[in-house]
Amino acid sequence: MLDYVIRLGKRAGEYLKEHHHDEIIIEHKGRIDLVTSIDRQIQCMIVSEIERAFPDHAILAEEGFRKKGNSPFTWVIDPLDGTNNFIHGIPFFCVSIAVLNDREPYIGVCSNPLRRELFWAQKGRGSYRNGSRLHVSRTERMIDSLIATGFPYDDDDIDRLMERFSCILRKARGIRRLGSAALDMCYVAAGSFDAFWEEGLKPWDMAAGEVIIREAGGMVTGLDGGPFDLYRGGIIASNAKLHEELRRCMDHDND
Ligand code: IPD
Ligand code: CA
Ligand code: CA
Repeated sequence: MLDYVIRLGKRAGEYLKEHHHDEIIIEHKGRIDLVTSIDRQIQCMIVSEIERAFPDHAILAEEGFRKKGNSPFTWVIDPLDGTNNFIHGIPFFCVSIAVLNDREPYIGVCSNPLRRELFWAQKGRGSYRNGSRLHVSRTERMIDSLIATGFPYDDDDIDRLMERFSCILRKARGIRRLGSAALDMCYVAAGSFDAFWEEGLKPWDMAAGEVIIREAGGMVTGLDGGPFDLYRGGIIASNAKLHEELRRCMDHDND
């Protein structure tokens, strides 16, 4: 199955690359939450491939596709993560495909076509970028760390968000907001970022990244440091060494 997911991720990434200068149709799903004709085309291609190859598997895909299955496997798909970057011509976006086995992350594949990066991982088999094994960073001190984050589309508590942001900004070497949660997570697995946190995410933003980070030796939890739940939206993902410091910044009354 891993080979199949890798081939599918590659094909979807190539499609994204070939069509990224096309005239696109843009629609609003929310105030600043957008979807393009390319998101929909890629999703359609991925979903029809899965339905053909694995007709009894469940599927959850961002652009309004849900299908119940008759097997332990569920596919979780973000056809284009980084849609705002894509629309604005910022070359940082990807296709993210995950397979859960009994609701647990099992396979994750993420294709960043413009940089020809293909990330993949399978539970128990390690995490890779184009064939090279990935490991999270060894950074031990926040002052030496580069941390990624993102801002939710519909957060009504900007003050809380800013409190957390400023707590980390005071401690870290730097913070980046690159605009693709799935790729942010791959870059934690690769050791480029030391950690990532965000709230208000959806399962398709995080499912592939979760297995890619865990298999690279990283730690993934909820914002309170408790077990990670794909459906709750909040995530801290790190090289494990910096996890507790980040978690403390998530408290309202942080230092
Ligand atoms: C978004 C990106 C972004 C994150 C948003 C996500 P989309 O996904 O991952 O980095 O901050 O919360 O919704 O809409 O481009 O698929
Ligand atoms: Ca997304
Ligand atoms: Ca998307």
